[in-house]
Amino acid sequence: MKLAVVGGGGREHVIIKTLKKNKTIDTIYAIPGNGGIARDAICVPDIKATDIDGVVSFCEDKKIDYVVVAPDDPLVLGMVDALKAAGIPAFGPEKKAAIIEGSKVFSKNLMKKYGIPTAQYEVFTDITEAEKYVQTCPIPTVIKADGLALGKGVIIAMTRDEAIAGIKTIMEEKKFGHSGDQIVIEEYLEGPEVSVLSFTDGNVVRPMISSMDHKRANDGDQGLNTGGMGTVAPNPYYTKEIADQCMKTIFQPTIDAMNQEGRTFRGCLYFGLMLTKDGPKVIEYNCRFGDPEAQVVLPLLDSDLLTIMQATTRGTLKDVDIRWKDESACCVIEASGGYPVSYQKGYEITGLDEVQNAYIAGAKLMDGKLYTDGGRVLGITETAPTLREAIAKAYASASKVTFKDMHMRHDIGQRALKALQ
Ligand code: AMP
Ligand code: GLY
Repeated sequence: MKLAVVGGGGREHVIIKTLKKNKTIDTIYAIPGNGGIARDAICVPDIKATDIDGVVSFCEDKKIDYVVVAPDDPLVLGMVDALKAAGIPAFGPEKKAAIIEGSKVFSKNLMKKYGIPTAQYEVFTDITEAEKYVQTCPIPTVIKADGLALGKGVIIAMTRDEAIAGIKTIMEEKKFGHSGDQIVIEEYLEGPEVSVLSFTDGNVVRPMISSMDHKRANDGDQGLNTGGMGTVAPNPYYTKEIADQCMKTIFQPTIDAMNQEGRTFRGCLYFGLMLTKDGPKVIEYNCRFGDPEAQVVLPLLDSDLLTIMQATTRGTLKDVDIRWKDESACCVIEASGGYPVSYQKGYEITGLDEVQNAYIAGAKLMDGKLYTDGGRVLGITETAPTLREAIAKAYASASKVTFKDMHMRHDIGQRALKALQ
């Protein structure tokens, strides 16, 4: 079989490495991929992940049997629809279902309509109204741009002044462009956060192993929000009891709600949850695998990923046995010094040959050597029978791989370990 995976980060790298365990796959193209992914797939650097026409005609030319569309933007733009129209089956939701991530106003209204637990909220299209509202609303409060914003469209305002500034950034300065034409202002929730990725074919929903992201740049959850500095799985706060409750109050109701709306979701639906004292609530939906959640979840998968993915596309997921290793995983992200603000690129990455599970996010290949080419450069994952061992192994491996001004957190998994005690 010939596959194409659309995207070019650490998530796409782990998806490709996991798919490759299936020996019926002869060739995998990564569109565009990156210098590190080039070790495991044929990269197509000239086609952007958002270039729908480019991806479709490439897949037609190469007679690709199945495409995995991994990132949010091509999904929200309708790449799966375009591939299907060309007769090429693809993993991921169609445009009308990807809106669950593409519009926060849509997802909040969906949850309200179907009684799915989430933070209280108001929607604003008018800046004056929004500013008036935050003069009296409970503080802290949370301001969210409606559309995609590279994971940066959420502002947690600890004071009214911060709330006003946040509204201005999104609605007046248009920091996220049209994504900020509407905003959601919502109740600030507290409690441990859990990421639950799931496979769904629109009928059944099969949650994967839970995970915990570490979004802040520095140790002790200090510093700016990032795309994610590391992950562990499973998430110890997510007990069997909570999982059962989530299935009843959140997971299946979401799948049913999307069907009711005529927006059947097929692919990977990501539930960002907060375990509040009033029960689990949805913080966000994503229409794709999380990054770096995928880098801990997929290494624990003990079944064939391609079979599962194809079953989500065909609507036969109920017949598929999905097994998980009874182990823990830890992924440590190595980022460029200065990330997420400003950073230098082009430093040589050394030591990769000494580790097994490196997932490359931002690197260029030149003369057989890899050079840094992004904010998050790579992730190192290790699995082990216990979380403590997985963390120790991940840091031991991470210490072998480096580049100039490399920045990583040193406390990935520590909060999870405390929760286990
Ligand atoms: P998102 O970009 O939607 O993943 O949000 C980024 C982060 O902001 C989340 O991981 C949470 O830590 C935080 N966050 C989002 N919504 C809320 C909320 N209603 N209350 C508290 N924290 C939130
Ligand atoms: N790590 C969070 C995300 O992928 O959205």
